[in-house]
Amino acid sequence: MKGVVLAGGLGTRLYPLTHVTNKHLLPVYDKPMIFYPIETLVRAGIKDVLLVTSGPHVGHFLGVLKNGKELGLDHLEYAYQEKPDGGIADALGLAEDFADGDNITVILGDNTTDSNISKAVSDFKKGAVVFLKKVNDPFRFGVAEFDKNDPKKVVGIEEKPKEPKSDYAVTGLYIYDKNVFSYIKKCNPNFAGRNQLEITEVNNYYLKDGELRWEELKGFWSDAGTFGSLFEASQFWASKQKTTGEL
Ligand code: G1P
Repeated sequence: MKGVVLAGGLGTRLYPLTHVTNKHLLPVYDKPMIFYPIETLVRAGIKDVLLVTSGPHVGHFLGVLKNGKELGLDHLEYAYQEKPDGGIADALGLAEDFADGDNITVILGDNTTDSNISKAVSDFKKGAVVFLKKVNDPFRFGVAEFDKNDPKKVVGIEEKPKEPKSDYAVTGLYIYDKNVFSYIKKCNPNFAGRNQLEITEVNNYYLKDGELRWEELKGFWSDAGTFGSLFEASQFWASKQKTTGEL
């Protein structure tokens, strides 16, 4: 299993902070944000990683991450997304050569979690796995819709719905087989009206083909792409360090 961290975009929701550097290098408590998703992969035994980035501050990553050894990686590669606003699926499309037919665990560079996904990673054979988390503000995320007669069966995923059909957000943590790249090629930039290739469309292709599974993500999870969520993530990691001495 290889890993892909998606750390592109312009981070416009965090202006003026993201005029200074890439969103994923901003501090979450005492570390650059990007350390957390990389540590999530390393905890799951994934040490061969591609980082996809874009935007005006791409050069800042090299000085922080170097070859990834200090974070426990065996190998760290970088890819550059030419359209910083091309979307998550567009960024992931750049991982095709790196994946080279292998399965990949994908994590968004602004997602922090203390969950351990080792079992899902080692059990994975084919198709796709998404990790869901119950949230108070589902309209900010991709949201799962469940079958009315079978509450464990996901029947659709909507991107930032005005009227969410459940409280379960699709977190930015995914496991895919090699078919992900042919689904990405079918994506339509108007899928969610953002002129971007959406990972939610990719997940719906897997669902239609009966190849999407899901698990609930245990523990803490937050994105950090808005001032509120960035603050919440910093607070969590600060209190965890104080109470458990972890990190
Ligand atoms: C992205 C995805 C969304 C997912 C979220 C998790 O949203 O499009 O489906 O729920 O990440 O962080 P974005 O960061 O583009 O708003």
